Amino acid sequence: MTITVRDAVVKDAEAIVQAHYSAVHQIASKDYPVEILNEWSPSNLSERIAKFERLIEGNSEGEIIVVAELDGKVVGFGSIVPDKKELRAVYVSAAAGAKGVGKAILEHLESKAKELNVPELNLDSSVTAEHFYARHGYEVIRRGLHRLNSGRQMACIFMRKEIKHD
Ligand SMILES: CC(C)(COP(=O)(O)OP(=O)(O)OC[C@H]1O[C@@H](n2cnc3c(N)ncnc32)[C@H](O)[C@@H]1OP(=O)(O)O)[C@@H](O)C(=O)NCCC(=O)NCCS
Repeated sequence: MTITVRDAVVKDAEAIVQAHYSAVHQIASKDYPVEILNEWSPSNLSERIAKFERLIEGNSEGEIIVVAELDGKVVGFGSIVPDKKELRAVYVSAAAGAKGVGKAILEHLESKAKELNVPELNLDSSVTAEHFYARHGYEVIRRGLHRLNSGRQMACIFMRKEIKHD
């Protein structure tokens, strides 16, 4: 079993959206009601893939997106926005879960943040991923609610990790 993490390219968009859909609907589904899951990861996949292709091609925020391959197949992705000191995403498809893929993505993103002299990474964690981030040194700043476009609110945990520079 080989895990590699690399920068995302446009043709990864489909696998990225599939991983997001699987992670939300098959993993986070234990912590959130279906109305929240449907808004967090909607089923209009082709529209979302096209949008993600444009995001990978270039985005004004400078979001850096990486993908993880497990034995040559893209099974997860993650991103940071260095200017905002933000860890924006880590998602791994359910079938590839608990094999260290999430850890590999997180470590890769942290090393990018370090290279770019980002002093800390902040994130809005799902309830599902809190334990995962805590294990990797992220501390809870506060617990809150993330407001979705519909006005529905989902529980989230604001977390932070200092990025150590030598
Ligand atoms: C949270 C998430 C990214 C973790 O991804 P993952 O690839 O399963 O992460 P890892 O495999 O690195 O670690 C997960 C667990 O598997 C365990 N694990 C890691 N490698 C393992 C291995 N080789 N064998 C067995 N278990 C292993 C880890 O100890 C870890 O346990 P823990 O949760 O008790 O810390 C993924 O579950 C996910 O996408 N969740 C739903 C979406 C979500 O909420 N994303 C975050 C949005 S903020």
